Amino acid sequence: MEMTKNKIELISLKSDNLKSEHFANDILDGLSKKQKTIPSIYFYDKKGSEIFENICYLDEYYQTRAEAQILEKFSEKIATNSSKDTDIIELGSGSSVKTRILLDAYILKNGYVNYFPIDISGKFLLESSQLLSESLPGLNINPIAARYNAGLEYIFSKNDKSPKLVLWLGSSIGNLNKDESTSFLRNINSIFKENDRILIGMDLKKDRQTLENAYNDSLNITAEFNLNLLSRINSELSGQFDLSNFKHRAVYNEEKGKIEMHLVSLTKQDVFIGALNKSFHFEKDEYIHTENSYKYNFEDILNLAKDSGFKLTNHWLDDKNLFSLNEFIKK
Ligand code: AVI
Repeated sequence: MEMTKNKIELISLKSDNLKSEHFANDILDGLSKKQKTIPSIYFYDKKGSEIFENICYLDEYYQTRAEAQILEKFSEKIATNSSKDTDIIELGSGSSVKTRILLDAYILKNGYVNYFPIDISGKFLLESSQLLSESLPGLNINPIAARYNAGLEYIFSKNDKSPKLVLWLGSSIGNLNKDESTSFLRNINSIFKENDRILIGMDLKKDRQTLENAYNDSLNITAEFNLNLLSRINSELSGQFDLSNFKHRAVYNEEKGKIEMHLVSLTKQDVFIGALNKSFHFEKDEYIHTENSYKYNFEDILNLAKDSGFKLTNHWLDDKNLFSLNEFIKK
């Protein structure tokens, strides 16, 4: 019998600031600052999303396994405590590998589940949605290529009665600073109804060595992920970065509770970017700041919930207490 593929429709809301002129502007802004910076959102082109998937399987990157273990343990309970018509919305879904555990639990309970993954990498999202839908009968998948806010507004503007379960897994919240995460959660709070919930994966504060190893892996995949930003500038903005003149670095800033990723210039150099018609000067050892990854303790999580108008209703941990999954509902 011939296998028929379900046709997946991608909803694309990328009319906003994902276009190449915004990339060019952000690179111009970021590289013109005294402390050079590139926003971490630009990691996730198709190649970057694929490299990030590889990071998730690294021995040192404990976050993925720890969160998957929490989901294995608690998904059935989460599904059992949900109403049948719950819509599951995922922010930054990537390949949805871990989410599958939760989707399985809903399908086992109800026979089907409605799933709305939102991701900025449209091509990657479409491919992974296709794979997921082929292997998961009962999955009604509606992928949305958009930034988080645009995707959420689109779903919530339908104003239907189904309770919403928003998933924000993988400690993606850690890539925002405290003000950004609070204001983003406040925004979600303002569109939530009484029975809506958000599950947030948050990485926990721990010893420096474990944290720094997770971002300086022995296979150099994280280095490849970081350096891919320069490849993107080369291919999309006619940049002339020589990648061998930069090195990846990740350090734990304990005072601020965050891992910082840098691209360090190995030599004094000038780099021309064609699309900006401009050269940028680097001193030896000068660095571009490319990512923050904030870590939390229980008190930080309680404060975040409170400051954004939520209450913490569940706080689940893996068996080594490395990672947490947190359920917030409207206060
Ligand atoms: C996507 N995000 C939560 C990852 C993190 O751990 O901050 C991105 C990452 N950067 C380097 N390794 C993984």
